[in-house]
Amino acid sequence: MSRVALVTGGSRGIGASISNALKDAGYSVAATYAGNDEAAAKFTDESGIKTYKWNVSDYGACKDGIASVEADLGPIDVVVANAGITRDAPFHKMTPEQWQEVIDTNLTGVFNTVHPIWPGMRERKFGRVIVISSINGQKGQFAQVNYAATKAGDLGIVKSLAQEGARAGITANAICPGYIATEMVMAVPEKVRESIIGQIPAGRLGEPEEIARCVVFLASDDAGFINGSTISANGAQFFV
Ligand code: CAA
Repeated sequence: MSRVALVTGGSRGIGASISNALKDAGYSVAATYAGNDEAAAKFTDESGIKTYKWNVSDYGACKDGIASVEADLGPIDVVVANAGITRDAPFHKMTPEQWQEVIDTNLTGVFNTVHPIWPGMRERKFGRVIVISSINGQKGQFAQVNYAATKAGDLGIVKSLAQEGARAGITANAICPGYIATEMVMAVPEKVRESIIGQIPAGRLGEPEEIARCVVFLASDDAGFINGSTISANGAQFFV
């Protein structure tokens, strides 16, 4: 029987590529989304992957949603915590609401997503937790105090989970994408985006599939001894 994978924010951007790549690799995939019904319906039409709507910042919604995915597909073996948002503003203009919204989605959302799945992984002695962090969690970013804090926090989550899960056959790893050609990056003002591309030695934005392939590898049996790691995929823009 095929393994089951859950991808949060899995109907658009990097998440959609991850969902598709896992499906192509033989997983039964469930993709979540928070609000864009139209994009989710289009994604399901094109990919055949079922979507589930809930907000990762709501623990109860995650618990109930995960229960319905497991009722449909079976126990979740692979969880990809990918859902994330930006609310960029220079710090002196950042509002408490912009701070909180990003913390709730990008950081607490990871807790809310993994926590209900974790006990089952421990019981079954197998699990793959993959968190999509960001280059900006590694290096910081002008106008992203909120986002960078969450993405750095995501790295702390996987390093701790790795230690807790190792004996139960669970790995937890992070991927730090650099600037990838998605709606999120395209929303950056064009002049700023051009200057960012100028800072990428590869001379281009990354493609979502380049992140998805990292996920497929980390989810595989071949990656069983990789635990607590961070894979940077950023075109040589930044080294840890
Ligand atoms: N470094 C240094 N200075 C910068 C800067 C940067 N990266 N970006 C903007 N500035 C400067 C501007 O030139 C401007 O300076 P002056 O006042 O001297 O002209 C000042 O900072 C910004 O002032 P504004 O009043 O124009 O700022 P604003 O309130 O309109 O905010 C912004 C504009 C939100 C900062 C906008 O420039 C922006 O979105 N920047 C991009 C931020 C970014 O890179 N976000 C990453 C998104 S992609 C992502 O997050 C995915 C991932 O994981 C990689």
